[in-house]
Amino acid sequence: MIELARMRWWHIDAVLPIEERVFVDDRWTARTYWSELGQIGTRHYLVALDGDEVVGYGGLCDYPDEAFVQTIAVSPATQGRGVGGLLLQALLDEAARRRQRTVSLEVRADNEPAKRLYARFGFRQTAVRRGYYSPSGADALVLTRTG
Ligand SMILES: CC(C)(COP(=O)(O)OP(=O)(O)OC[C@H]1O[C@@H](n2cnc3c(N)ncnc32)[C@H](O)[C@@H]1OP(=O)(O)O)[C@@H](O)C(=O)NCCC(=O)NCCS
Repeated sequence: MIELARMRWWHIDAVLPIEERVFVDDRWTARTYWSELGQIGTRHYLVALDGDEVVGYGGLCDYPDEAFVQTIAVSPATQGRGVGGLLLQALLDEAARRRQRTVSLEVRADNEPAKRLYARFGFRQTAVRRGYYSPSGADALVLTRTG
């Protein structure tokens, strides 16, 4: 059974191998995760646990005027079983708890599975950022959902 829990610093070592597998060139470093988790007032990060094993994670940033899905990922072996949807729903619930009506995110223009997930949750494209991802140079789509 999959359970969601707040991401803590001791989860970072388990998050990084998933990060490397799924984001490759665009992956975040341990330093970025330490920094994100340190911003306790504005960040809400979750891990999806299968027993003790981290199988997915996601994070939200609570900006003054909107919430932003910073990241969401599921380990390749666990994808397609609803964990991504579970994480996204939990982040949207947190945004609602923080009285945010607008939730945005960036997704690589060529990331079809993620785009399908976000479309299912009512996200719509609002902008394109050319060459946004570094070092790959891939475009990002900005998707927004207004609840
Ligand atoms: C995008 C990502 C987070 C989605 O996670 P996921 O756990 O595979 O997502 P879900 O399982 O909730 O949904 C994916 C598919 O599985 C299907 N699914 C959901 N629950 C299911 C279940 N119990 N059994 C079988 N299939 C299921 C969904 O219908 C969906 O199908 P669709 O894409 O054809 O609509 C994951 O693919 C991932 O980590 N990708 C790499 C990282 C990434 O790109 N992150 C997003 C960056 S913006």
